[in-house]
Amino acid sequence: MENTTQEVKFTEDNLTLAKEIMARYPEGKQKSALLPILHIAQRQFNDWLSPEVMDYVASILSIEPIEVYEVATFYSMYNLKPVGHCMIEFCQTGPCMVRGVEELIDYTEKKLGIKVGETTKDGKFSLKAVECLGACGYAPMVQIGKYYYENLDEKKIDKIIEVFSDPNSDTFKKYDI
Ligand code: FES
Repeated sequence: MENTTQEVKFTEDNLTLAKEIMARYPEGKQKSALLPILHIAQRQFNDWLSPEVMDYVASILSIEPIEVYEVATFYSMYNLKPVGHCMIEFCQTGPCMVRGVEELIDYTEKKLGIKVGETTKDGKFSLKAVECLGACGYAPMVQIGKYYYENLDEKKIDKIIEVFSDPNSDTFKKYDI
């Protein structure tokens, strides 16, 4: 989970991608590429952004580190501390709440033995509560990595936990839940 002991530097592929994204903006406006570059950084550095990683991103974009911190601390999709292999992000806004997300969060917390904002001791799961993810018609729902899992109930939560307990599972792949 650590990302401070390894060298903070993009892989060649990620650096090329970052440069491609920066080139979409006019000279002097590279800061506009900050959000996608933070996503690249988060993915490379174990799903979270340490101060060292944010400083590196600032150096790539030739901006001040504080400009990166401001953005990274504003958006819930950026993790500022180590997280588990599988981050389950529960939408807790109105429609999901009406459709029982609070009970599902409660169920999941009990099942994993952690609260929202925490990570299991084995490093497999983290829980997060976020605002509307734009899939209200399929409430209650969660986001895991790149994908949504919708119309959830306790059985589906069990399946999610079963699937992502496997260390070889990939949160950037969609599973049939
Ligand atoms: S309220 Fe949950 S996706 Fe919109």
